Amino acid sequence: MRKIQFFDTTLRDGEQTPGVNFNTKEKVQIALQLEKWGIDVIEAGFPIASPGDFEAVQAIAQQVKKTTVTGLARCQKKDIDRAHEALKDAVNPQIHVFLATSNIHMQYKLKMTKEEVLASITEHVSYARSLFEKVQFSPEDASRSDHDFLLKAVQTAIDAGATIINIPDTVGYSNPTEYGALFKFLIENIQSEREITFSSHCHDDLGMATANALAAIENGANRVEGAVNGIGERAGNTALEEVALALAIRKDFYQCETQIVLNETKRTSELVSRLSGIPVPKNKAIVGDNAYAHESGIHQDGVLKNPETYEIITPTLVGVTQNSLPLGKLSGRHAFTSKLEELGYQLDEADSKEAFKRFKSLADKKKQITDKDLVALLADQYREETEQYKLADVQVQYSSNGYQGAIVSIIDEENQTKVASKIGSGSIQAIYNTIDELFQQNPDLTEYEIQAITGGEDAQAEVRVTLVDSETNTEFRGIGVDFDVLQASAKAYVQASNHFKQAK
Ligand code: KIV
Ligand code: ZN
Repeated sequence: MRKIQFFDTTLRDGEQTPGVNFNTKEKVQIALQLEKWGIDVIEAGFPIASPGDFEAVQAIAQQVKKTTVTGLARCQKKDIDRAHEALKDAVNPQIHVFLATSNIHMQYKLKMTKEEVLASITEHVSYARSLFEKVQFSPEDASRSDHDFLLKAVQTAIDAGATIINIPDTVGYSNPTEYGALFKFLIENIQSEREITFSSHCHDDLGMATANALAAIENGANRVEGAVNGIGERAGNTALEEVALALAIRKDFYQCETQIVLNETKRTSELVSRLSGIPVPKNKAIVGDNAYAHESGIHQDGVLKNPETYEIITPTLVGVTQNSLPLGKLSGRHAFTSKLEELGYQLDEADSKEAFKRFKSLADKKKQITDKDLVALLADQYREETEQYKLADVQVQYSSNGYQGAIVSIIDEENQTKVASKIGSGSIQAIYNTIDELFQQNPDLTEYEIQAITGGEDAQAEVRVTLVDSETNTEFRGIGVDFDVLQASAKAYVQASNHFKQAK
């Protein structure tokens, strides 16, 4: 069986999703979960892009234990040096150098001739090779490049020392027949004494990213790039969970294996969704809430008789737990930790103690604590740990006839408590005006969504907000979960405000 490697770019291309800004702690958390999930290569960021990106790549390089960590670099020495510096502590470092090869990119964006592009590939891939053992080269917009020139560019990169060639469908223009044929053409025509790994990198503009990635694999690619939940620039990247499950469920067809730990899939998806603020659509393949729900009577009847009648993937295979025994107010620490273990969480003593405290406080208000409540509780705890400014308290004075007032306190990065008070036409507006005062910033609130995370009158509320910086038109997202709607609203706004502040 061929081994297919998984290259995850959630933290680089995925972060190019409008409104997604992970801070360093969040990136490290995601990277550690990606390692648990079995990812072979983590693209931790674009070190030259900003000091924040550099810091995150460095932190991930230091904390990831065995997975290869890579950073992106343009064909420029300063980019390669910066990536080298950021990755110097990685157990398995790799560099990812790119330069566009399509006529439209060379003429309008790069303003370079074909000869100049080839010369730049030789110069910069050799330079990268002098600093790194593993060099990946990507001819950006490969799928729209002239095939003979693309072959020349790829051969030039190989001659200069690249051993990994990634073929991006940068604008999501290709289709499976065409993209698969492109891999076949390149693999059949390159010349190399060393073994070359070919990798796919697809965007989903026409909804074909997963199909294209699988076509590349069928035609010789041994590596697939993508992002968790398919997040990324514009319509996003290949959703890696879809490729992982396609290869596992249809092993008979693809005859490939991977090192993806399938039952970590749902947890990885949930972590990325919560920290990115991008919800997973209910009908999303593999990780959507409805992916294992059977609605029609005929289907339900079939599944009861034999699940395989309508179920090609068992929910437990991807880590979707059946809501076996909900916990409650009387559940002790032992039952709580066993439940967390059943859900796949292994917390250290301090985190487990804090989670239990939060669980007890929730159980005072909510009769049955379901698996979904617990997952949200832990995600909330992790999210708060990564925030610079933490929400400490919210008080609202409500009047049915006039303005509402709020008093909010936060704890800043120096552990100082700051308190402010403001009014608003509604309770949420009063809270948000007060938080703006505390953060000393004035973003535009463009989206506010609320939903119950479980059924029942005592369900917890999940609030998602999007803030926009009107000067740069940049979006920042936040999610808050709480038994109380106002508290959940405040949590979501504080998270997004932290992202806003960090970007400023
Ligand atoms: O889509 C793309 O072309 C990229 C490259 C930088 C690999 O993300
Ligand atoms: Zn991309």
